[in-house]
Order: sequence, then structure tokens, then C-alpha cells
Amino acid sequence: MKTIENPENDDPAVVRANDVCRSYQVGDMMVPVLKNVNLVVKKGEFVAIMGPSGSGKSTLMNLIGCLDRPTCGSVSLMGTDVSTISDDELARLRGLEIGFVFQSFNLVPRLTALENVELPTYANSRPGVDTRKRAKELLELVGLEDRINYRPTELSGGQSQRVAVARSLINDPSLILADEPTGNLDSKTGKEIMDLFTELNKKGRTVIMITHDPNLAKVYADRVINLKDGYIEDRIDVTN
Ligand SMILES: Nc1ncnc2c1ncn2[C@@H]1O[C@H](COP(=O)(O)OP(=O)(O)OP(=O)(O)O)[C@@H](O)[C@H]1O
Ligand SMILES: [Mg+2]
Repeated sequence: MKTIENPENDDPAVVRANDVCRSYQVGDMMVPVLKNVNLVVKKGEFVAIMGPSGSGKSTLMNLIGCLDRPTCGSVSLMGTDVSTISDDELARLRGLEIGFVFQSFNLVPRLTALENVELPTYANSRPGVDTRKRAKELLELVGLEDRINYRPTELSGGQSQRVAVARSLINDPSLILADEPTGNLDSKTGKEIMDLFTELNKKGRTVIMITHDPNLAKVYADRVINLKDGYIEDRIDVTN
């Protein structure tokens, strides 16, 4: 098996979704949400995923981020079919290599902003990193240095979103999956977050971002993928 640390792992694709389907059981019926989605994202790409509400964007993101399993088809990350590795290996891959910004933030209510940002490092961290210092720096980067000891209920929606962005970067992931990362932000703060992702992308990180904002997709992404009713409708390459 090829693993992420394996030098033989020469797949230039960070993400491969091969004929991925996801259906949900609702009552007696299986309702298809994603229908044979094929997607390849190469290392260093900045990809935007767009599509109407309910078209399956978050479902696809959850599959790419290995938070969910496809009903059919397979997902490979960095050349490894994730269904072939153990739960421990998968947890490590997710914890170190993927930074996830959830649409609904998923902050832990009883933890402070600082502890929320640090949280992923309790399970997995990179050796030699002062995680508390890094968490503080990231909160500073998203403009929340004066809120580090606030709990999520004491933060606004936009502030919670910025904590979620800071948390996604704590382990310096190679792949950033962001579900509407600027949906609750004013345009200035939104631009700052997008500039941060752009900077990380220039340093070689791969970014996949869901957005409803066509301008954001156009300005920041190399490629826009449109989902409609669980299909990839078309691909618009905005760089060529
Ligand atoms: N656990 C579930 N059980 C049943 N149906 C579900 C479940 N999760 C999602 N769905 C359905 O899957 C479809 C796609 O949901 P998804 O959250 O992926 O949409 P989305 O494109 O991210 O929408 P939005 O832009 O509103 O965030 C929706 O119709 C939703 O009702
Ligand atoms: Mg969604």
C-alpha cells in the first residue's frame, strides 16, 4: 500500500473522487444526493465548488475530507485509496494533512477560542511545534487576539467562523477544505481570509472551497466546479 510518507507515492493528484455516489435513507427510500461524481484535484490547485443549496456540495466535501463514506465509488487522498487504510492511519492523515472549515463552524461550546484552535493537536500534532504559541498566532492572524479566552457563545457568527479558519490551519495541512469560509463575514474580513488562503496556496497548499459567491470563485480560484442535483455540471477553468 502506498502511504503519504512513501516516496513511491508519486500521484500528482491530492484528491481523486472516482465515480462517487452518496445516497441517504429517508424512510423506506434511498435518496441519491451525489451521482457518479468524478473529480481530480492536483497538488497546489485552488478549486471552488459552487452550486445551488441542496446540490450536494457539503456532502461531497465531507466525502473528500473522509468524514463520511461513499455509497459507491472511491476517494483517494495523496495517492491512497482511503478505504484501504486503517482507522488510525485515516485519523492521522485527516488530523495532519487536512484542514477543515465546516459550514456550521463545529466549535466546542465549553472550550475557549484558543482551546478550540488547539483542539486538533490534542490528537495529532507535528513534532517540535509549540501549539499554544501557534494557536495564538493564528488567532492574531484572523484578527481575534483580543478574543482568545472567549467561548463560542460569546462570539459573533463571523468571529466563530474566523476561529474555525484558525483551527483548520493549526497543523499546517497540505489540503484545506473550506465550506463557505466567508459566508458570515463582512467583505473586508472575508477578503482577509481569502488572502490568507491565497498566500497558503502560493506556498503549495491545495485549497478546495465551497462558495455561493461567483465573484469570490472567479477572483481566487484556478478552477470552478459546478454541482447541480448531485452531478458535476460543467467545469470552468478561469485561468485559461
Ligand atoms: N443525513 C442526511 N439524511 C438525508 N438527507 C440528507 C442528509 N444530509 C444531507 N441530505 C440531503 O442531501 C442534499 C445535499 O445536501 P448538502 O448539505 O450536501 O447540500 P449543499 O449543496 O451543501 O447545500 P447548502 O448550499 O445549502 O449548504 C440535500 O437535499 C439534503 O437534504
Ligand atoms: Mg452546504
